[in-house]
Amino acid sequence: MICHSLLETIQFGEILGSHLRAGDVIALRGHLGIGKTQLVHGIAKTYLNADVHVCSPSFTIINQYEANGRSIHHLDLYRLSTLEELESTGYWDIIEDPNALILIEWLEQVDRADPIDFVTIDIRFTDETGDLSASPREFMLLGQGELYERLKPLF
Ligand SMILES: Nc1ncnc2c1ncn2[C@@H]1O[C@H](COP(=O)(O)OP(=O)(O)OP(=O)(O)O)[C@@H](O)[C@H]1O
Ligand SMILES: [Mg+2]
Repeated sequence: MICHSLLETIQFGEILGSHLRAGDVIALRGHLGIGKTQLVHGIAKTYLNADVHVCSPSFTIINQYEANGRSIHHLDLYRLSTLEELESTGYWDIIEDPNALILIEWLEQVDRADPIDFVTIDIRFTDETGDLSASPREFMLLGQGELYERLKPLF
């Protein structure tokens, strides 16, 4: 899936959000500023059926969004380096919450932090020759299992 603008990325997030369920865990992987948080914005819109304020939880590690009896735990591990630091936030209980959708930026930053069952959305710039921020973004789904099969037709 290729998105040529911020609006297309948010709209793709909205489509994804309508196919997600509580207990799903997704890692969002890609360069700084590529659009991970903006994708979460779109996902939250349809998953929660509300326009919540989504922002990067880089300093807080975790943001929680709730509306209409549903909830999202949005994590950003960018500023962490050890599993011990991460575990002090209650990480395992947070990502195993069966009542929430879990979206994680920079999972690859912390060794041994992989959830038991998750898929990865890998995002790339399709044009690395000029101004990267203006490049279209390509979204790829990686992983396996039921969530992977459910989302694969959307990519
Ligand atoms: N096609 C596009 N999709 C997503 N964002 C885009 C696109 N084109 C331009 N942008 C811009 O790129 C930026 C993406 O920012 P965002 O915070 O979502 O990145 P991020 O991947 O979460 O970065 P970080 O790793 O720092 O958390 C926004 O400023 C947005 O306006
Ligand atoms: Mg972000």
